[in-house]
Amino acid sequence: MLDLFADEAPWQEPLAAGAVILRRQALSQSSELLAAIEQVAALSPFRQMVTPGGYTMSVSMTNCGPLGWSTDRHGYCYTARDPLTGKSWPSMPDVFRRLALEAATLAGYADFSPDACLINRYLPGAKLSLHQDKDEATLSAPIVSVSLGLPAVFQFGGLKRNDPLQRVLLEHGDVVVWGGESRLFYHGIQPLKPGHHPQVGSLRYNLTFRHAGNQE
Ligand code: SIN
Ligand code: FE2
Repeated sequence: MLDLFADEAPWQEPLAAGAVILRRQALSQSSELLAAIEQVAALSPFRQMVTPGGYTMSVSMTNCGPLGWSTDRHGYCYTARDPLTGKSWPSMPDVFRRLALEAATLAGYADFSPDACLINRYLPGAKLSLHQDKDEATLSAPIVSVSLGLPAVFQFGGLKRNDPLQRVLLEHGDVVVWGGESRLFYHGIQPLKPGHHPQVGSLRYNLTFRHAGNQE
């Protein structure tokens, strides 16, 4: 098939103070990223976690890197071990680390060294309610978020839950970086619409890179 977009260079769209969308930034690495997700998931499988409120999340999650985020009836936290397997989370694939550093640098955050990557898997209907990423020990590092597969509507608000929301469609290969003034802005994902992506199938993956532990 003739791919008219294969050679299209990535472009940037400002989102908010300290936040930018790097459109298609991950596109040229998407096959490697997808293969790496499968390798991680073979060691630490995707699972639907339960929140402290007793709600089973519609998104399935796993992690890679020194630290991984999870939630259960007792609360949210970053741990060095996968509570499901009892082993360390799988190491962060080089292709992940390189992309996260490249994207952070393009967004104006030099020297980003993520120690955690949360991998979300959305099937049609799955959503992520409005929340802040605030479980990280230091907030000086940005969040780098990579979208693969089916498009999803990303909501991006402000510091207060009821601040007005921007709604942007995130597509295969898009990367969002938020930090600085917008580091604690509320965000979420609207229920995924059914569809088929030629490379990924009937689902969406999202990688979020964070610096979660204490700054070295
Ligand atoms: C997240 O907030 O952890 C994920 C956002 C997304 O799936 O794009
Ligand atoms: Fe988040």
